[in-house]
Amino acid sequence: MSRAKGFASRAIHHAYEPQDNEGALTPPLHLTSTFVFETAEAGGELFAGERSGHVYSRISNPTLDLLEQRVAELEGAEAGLALSSGMGAITSTLWTLVSPGDEIIVDKTLYGCTFAFMRHGLSRFGVKISHVDLTDPENLRAAISETTRVVYFETPANPNMRLVDIARIADIAHEAGATVVVDNTYATPYLTRPIEMGADIVLHSATKYLGGHGDVVAGLVVGKCEQIGEIRLVGMKDMTGAVMAPFNALLILRGLKTLALRMDRHCATAQKVAEWLEAHPVVCKVHFPGLESFEQHDLAERQMDQPGGMIAFELEGGLQAGTEMMNALRMIQRAVSLGDAETLIQHPASMTHSTYTPEERAEHGISEGLVRLSVGLEDLNDILDDLNQAMPSKPVAAAA
Ligand SMILES: Cc1ncc(COP(=O)(O)O)c(C=O)c1O
Repeated sequence: MSRAKGFASRAIHHAYEPQDNEGALTPPLHLTSTFVFETAEAGGELFAGERSGHVYSRISNPTLDLLEQRVAELEGAEAGLALSSGMGAITSTLWTLVSPGDEIIVDKTLYGCTFAFMRHGLSRFGVKISHVDLTDPENLRAAISETTRVVYFETPANPNMRLVDIARIADIAHEAGATVVVDNTYATPYLTRPIEMGADIVLHSATKYLGGHGDVVAGLVVGKCEQIGEIRLVGMKDMTGAVMAPFNALLILRGLKTLALRMDRHCATAQKVAEWLEAHPVVCKVHFPGLESFEQHDLAERQMDQPGGMIAFELEGGLQAGTEMMNALRMIQRAVSLGDAETLIQHPASMTHSTYTPEERAEHGISEGLVRLSVGLEDLNDILDDLNQAMPSKPVAAAA
């Protein structure tokens, strides 16, 4: 029996055969909105699902097909679906899965726009959103009921890096008949494969590590064929229209070719930066799964192949000290998003998580002084030099 190919090889080759495409090494870009039927009868059969093929690019397209197959393969899923953004993936998935009267149990901390969609969007349509601290799976056992349709979480969570034990949560959710949806944007399939641990659906902001170059906004969902088919035809085709442009699919396919290489470098550099921050006299807290001081370090070791490239930290002096430090940076860029070649820094309370009220941030574990760093691919010493020259020179008094 032949050995299965490794992650990097599958990210480069899976589901593409140059000899079926005029020998082109790089997959063709199918820039077409519609597809021609050989006969009127053939068109009817395509619509009736009696014949396979493409009809219209809001439903499917060969360039997207390849990307969908490749990401599904890397995540260990049966099928995939490419969407216009991470939010397109999240909204298309949840609009498909829930109906009025259903409950979604969601972890306490979520990316700001996902929080806003649930709290201010879905809940207006009769869907109950219950925030539960999923870092202790027993909290899920206590909260889940027959109306719980979906259990949803990010691991690591944006922005404070909390982890959720995917296997234990999936066991409890499945006993109650709920669908487990994991946002795997921070970890990527190179570090964590939630489907192998029991999750039903995995989604991504492919804008981040999967694309990897800060030049595209995109989303992906993977899971079982039947469920992905439903999200395609209901959530994407009819409810959101959040279809990915074929050119963007090509950019993500290009990004995937270097995902393993890039993640190795992101993780190795982030580990060193986190250790440096932890030892710095004005840094009072570092949240990074690779540090032994990280509360869920054991879970990180079990669930993640490496600790990732994202760090959250707090300075003595809180928000003011953090703002001054961010303004003093020379190479590291002040920007939201993450997973790019450039190291990016942002302040969640005033930026990505400003969709929470201050009270909600306090309740959901997002402190006002937290700074989020997406460690890029530059030389370690240049990242450290820049942080070093921007840090307050001596400890500052904590804000009242
Ligand atoms: C964890 C996470 N999920 C989803 C999204 C939304 O993705 P997009 O910006 O591609 O819509 C983001 C964006 O920052 C994110 O960080």
